[in-house]
Order: sequence, then C-alpha cells, then structure tokens
Amino acid sequence: MLAIIGGSGLTQLANLEVTHRRAVRTPYGEPSGAVTFGTLRGREVMFLARHGYGHTIPPHEVNYRANLWALKAEGAEEVVSVASVGGIRGELGPGTLAIPDQILDYTWGRRSTYFEGGDVPVKHVDFTEPFTESVRARLLAAARAAGEVVFDGGVYATTQGPRLETRAEIDRLERDGADMVGMTAMPEAALARELELPYATLAVVVNHAAGRGDSARAIPFATIERMLHETLARARRIIEALVVAG
Ligand code: HPA
Repeated sequence: MLAIIGGSGLTQLANLEVTHRRAVRTPYGEPSGAVTFGTLRGREVMFLARHGYGHTIPPHEVNYRANLWALKAEGAEEVVSVASVGGIRGELGPGTLAIPDQILDYTWGRRSTYFEGGDVPVKHVDFTEPFTESVRARLLAAARAAGEVVFDGGVYATTQGPRLETRAEIDRLERDGADMVGMTAMPEAALARELELPYATLAVVVNHAAGRGDSARAIPFATIERMLHETLARARRIIEALVVAG
C-alpha cells in the first residue's frame, strides 16, 4: 500500500474516505500521530501528518524513526512525502512544485539511523540516489495526468530549523549546489532507505529562500500562507492522481 507523509499545511487528504485510524507503538517511541487509513477513489492509502494533526511538532522534534517504522509495520510498501521548501534556484519561485533527486544534509542531533549498536550488525546502506527513481517517475507521471507542471529533479538541502536561514547561509547552500531548502527530508529519506521502503518527495515551493526574490530583505509570511494554500491544492491533485494510477 502507498503511504503519504503530509508536511506543513497538509494534515489531511481532501477526498480521502477514512476507514480507520490506528495509534501504532514502535520500539522508537510515538509517531507524530495515528496512522490514517482510507480509500481515495476506491484505492487504499495510508496517511500520516509529519508535524502532528494539530501541526505542533517542529521539524527537529519529529520522531522520524517512529513515523517510518509505523508506516512499514502497518503495511506500507512505498512512501511519498509532501514537503514545503524555500526556492533557491531561479526557476523555483513560490508556487512551483518539484520532485527533487538529490539531498544535502545540514541537520544535527536528530536520531537518523536504526543502527545503534547492540546486537544488530551495522549496515552502511547505499544512498547514492536518496530518492527512489521508480517512485519519482510515477510522481512525474501523476503530475502529467493531473495537468500540473512540476520541476523534475533538484537538490534539496535540509536545514535544522525551526528558524529560517540567513542570507549568507542560503548563499552557501547555493554554492554547495542546493536548489531548494527545507527542514524534513533528512533523516526521513535515509530511514526509509534503511527500512528498504521506496521513497520520493513532492516539494512545494512556498517562498523564495532568504535573500532571494521577494525575500531579499525578509521572508514575507503572508506569501507563505497564500502559497501553502494555493500550491498544496495542486499537490493534492498530483497525490490523488498517483493513488488512482495504483
Ligand atoms: N527554508 C527552510 N525550510 C523551508 C523554507 C525555507 O525558506 N520554506 C519552507 N520550508
């Protein structure tokens, strides 16, 4: 079954007919909330709100390990995450949707692996391609089916948050090759890989990153709110097309 992890602003799927919710216990503690099961135009799907259903868990406090473990334990075979980001690359202005293909990780102090010594031999998972190409391809196809234009590829830089970045930090990320910046792709993508769960992200650009475009002097929060609302509606259509395509 497909599992969707919803990010900021996406705490539910509009046309999901909820069948049940399950509070899952994991060896890693509590997930962000109960896993919601339902059908979308007749297809089964499960859903989890990354920041909790009341949007109270900041990016650095999300229990990523419990979230992915819970989804896998409940039968997820692949995971698509929706994440809001700031755009660094010129083409990635507010209102753009992107399906990134690479990650840079600037986070710290997050529980980012299931291998913690003990009796389990350490496995160094391959992470050359952090997103699963087949899931990316299906997301791209779903976007086409939904009539939505998406940017194919891009480097997602993951910062610690919850504060936004300084202009100099964004300059550095750009020199490092980042195209967009968000706070949640890591360790989520790496943990999915450790659990052998195919994983891809639909990134929703809600603002120019600090020092860019209309964020030249400050990030206008009114824009973020408006963009979240408008662009997430399009993201939802893509997710629905993905679910319907099976
Ligand atoms: N930076 C980091 N994370 C974000 C941003 C940003 O500008 N916008 C949305 N998530």
